[in-house]
Amino acid sequence: MATINENYLKLKAGYLFPEISRRVAAYSKKNSSARMISLGIGDVTQPLAPAVVEAMRRAVEELSDVRTFRGYGPEQGYGFLREAIAGNDYASRGIEIGADEVFVSDGAKCDTANIQEIFSADNVLAVADPVYPVYIDTNVMAGRTGPAAADGRYVGVVYMSCTEENGFLPRPPAKRVDLVYLCSPNNPTGAAAGRDDLRRWVDYARQNKAVILFDAAYEAFITQPEIPHSIYEIEGSRDVAIEFRSFSKTAGFTGVRCGFCVVPRNLKAYTGDGAPVELNGLWSRRHTTKFNGASYISQAAAAAVYSPEGKRQTTGIIAKYMANAAFMRRSLEELGYTTHGGVNAPYIWMKTPAGQTSWGFFDRLLQKAQVITTPGCGFGPAGEGYIRLTAFGAAEDVKEAMERFAGI
Ligand code: MLT
Repeated sequence: MATINENYLKLKAGYLFPEISRRVAAYSKKNSSARMISLGIGDVTQPLAPAVVEAMRRAVEELSDVRTFRGYGPEQGYGFLREAIAGNDYASRGIEIGADEVFVSDGAKCDTANIQEIFSADNVLAVADPVYPVYIDTNVMAGRTGPAAADGRYVGVVYMSCTEENGFLPRPPAKRVDLVYLCSPNNPTGAAAGRDDLRRWVDYARQNKAVILFDAAYEAFITQPEIPHSIYEIEGSRDVAIEFRSFSKTAGFTGVRCGFCVVPRNLKAYTGDGAPVELNGLWSRRHTTKFNGASYISQAAAAAVYSPEGKRQTTGIIAKYMANAAFMRRSLEELGYTTHGGVNAPYIWMKTPAGQTSWGFFDRLLQKAQVITTPGCGFGPAGEGYIRLTAFGAAEDVKEAMERFAGI
């Protein structure tokens, strides 16, 4: 008899975005002429930068010719991309990251989901609330938590409530934890951690021999110069942090797929009897066993993001999204809503009107304005009373969505 991994039965309902799609599909079925505008899932809308398209075209041509054809690539990623990442994302900011510390993948979702495999099941986990559901759900699946309590939080996990009072920035808990997921700029709240915030976390991790899993998928959206783009800008962080990045939002790769994580050579965790083990080797072992590398076409395209034209073009696209964010914040504030985020992140975290729940306001916007949002409570109980709006729409759609907000 085949038996299941019963940890899956602990998971609450479905993954958030399929549930949103279900509600939108049900509404559309009854209202087939309605034109929906999505400010829901954080998916990009602008086409790939021309420099990226050209690199993909060249890669396809190479694969179509027997003299330049390539089969399996290195599981950790092609050297040309790993070196471009180390040079452009890190050396340019004075951070020393070797190409052999970079692991290319098909995106940050998979990496942030998979990384927990190299840690033992009894690690105590800390996550923000609200949180990107992937961090917590994958740890539930792995048996690193107890069942969900009545408030939706999983037993055994340390939740760090992110509220208006603390600027939506989690502080190190009083209790000792082993693994901490941090996301800055944050999905879903749009808050960005400053240097002092990150310094507190690095100190905490060093004191507790904890590992920080730092998701920097939205670093390209930072507009304020004082906000760090990488946790490695903080001294001592190489010993305690793994960083995740993605080309999805930076360069419109949500459909192309390419991302990476950095596992520094000197970063260690411990065996049950306290012997240190380098995580770079462990992750490499896992990666080479379970992954055959991102496609050559995606990696060639990702490398083009670092070319002078690629940088100029992708920066231009990001500026468009951030102009949407500024317009949305302004419009919503004028309508009397309270908003957060949208300055260093493509997400706006908006308070629902008094007395309305996240799902209640989501449904109202869907039915009255045909605007799709994401209910804040889908990211955790502390997200109740908020909705998340993304700035990834086309400018004209964003404008229309704001007009529709005014009419509800
Ligand atoms: C989101 O809307 O939160 C994103 O699409 C999540 C992701 O990047 O997987």
